[in-house]
Amino acid sequence: MIDIHTHILPGLDDGARHREEALAMLRMAAAAGTTDMVASSHANLEFAFDPQVAEERIAGLQGAVGNAPRIHYGCELHLTPESIADVLRFPQKYSIGHRGYLLLEFSDFLVPKTSSEILGRMIARGVHPIIAHPERNPILRKRMPELEAWVGQGCAMQVTAQSLLGRFGKAAAVASHELMARGLVHFLASDAHDCEHRPPVLDQVRRYVEEAFDPETADRLLRENPQAVLDGAPLATGPVHVRKRPWFSFSLW
Ligand SMILES: [Fe+2]
Repeated sequence: MIDIHTHILPGLDDGARHREEALAMLRMAAAAGTTDMVASSHANLEFAFDPQVAEERIAGLQGAVGNAPRIHYGCELHLTPESIADVLRFPQKYSIGHRGYLLLEFSDFLVPKTSSEILGRMIARGVHPIIAHPERNPILRKRMPELEAWVGQGCAMQVTAQSLLGRFGKAAAVASHELMARGLVHFLASDAHDCEHRPPVLDQVRRYVEEAFDPETADRLLRENPQAVLDGAPLATGPVHVRKRPWFSFSLW
């Protein structure tokens, strides 16, 4: 499996606090079947993002863990007027592996009316926006038609594994299942911040999706599409995810 959203670089944001914690997270991920992780440190008003520092931290960790898992460059960019301008000036600076896919986080309090236009301008610059966990955003999760339009426009959606499993509460669980039902989910990722509360593991969600949906869907969301991101290649398209059983028949919480 390939995890495109993790906070594993020590000291750069509110994820791994130090090198030992980062190494523990990497080893935990590898043990759960993750082969590749994108180090998507926050780039927002609280945490400045420096590409060179990120590359150095990745190299330092990679040397310690060998190739299990492989660590890839990226960030989680918070949408602000300044970050939009910088993406448009330097389209590859924030993208995963510098290959075009950009993990983009919207504010919980304000979604610009011009979002579609902003996303369109990024796409025109060769950036492929991936909307980070829309199911956890109280504004976005109430705007399914708008999310659908963004996907039609060329955006992709990443849902947090723990949302689908009910660990971010009922509203996020309901929204993540509605996104699945509408065929709007392209990635499941851990958004790991530590080893305990938000761990870097995807094996449980893989089993859930295999059972509740089907193995092909699990593979597409956890391996095939994430691999395309690492390669800078087009995403696989798939059918609307049809649940075998109503999701509430699983004991999620
Ligand atoms: Fe995150």
